[in-house]
Amino acid sequence: MTYDIYMDFILENYKNPKNYGKIEKPNATSRGLNPLCGDELEIFLIIDKNIIKDIKFTGKGCAISIASASILTEMVKGKDLDYVKNLKENDLLNALGIEISPARIKCALLSYKTLKEAISNIKN
Ligand code: FES
Repeated sequence: MTYDIYMDFILENYKNPKNYGKIEKPNATSRGLNPLCGDELEIFLIIDKNIIKDIKFTGKGCAISIASASILTEMVKGKDLDYVKNLKENDLLNALGIEISPARIKCALLSYKTLKEAISNIKN
């Protein structure tokens, strides 16, 4: 794919993010803040028998942070917790498909860090 197609992928996920919204009664949730800009994301999960049955997020942020949350939630939906625990920052950065400048890394990884925090705190 060319750079333009990757950029379209990011913009599409920003304009029409997948899994955007709230879940009533999630059994795992977390709120993450990018201290550099004040943007926040909240992630909600339904986890049943170690499987992520549903995941949604809300919040506001730049195109990279929202697209990243959209792509990440698609990556982990339906997967087991071991998959999420083993997921590395680079797995998400590679899935974004564009070069992320050092200044934007916190944007790109806001959803990742929020998700990791959420699964460390699962209520049954
Ligand atoms: Fe705030 Fe990117 S500028 S998350």
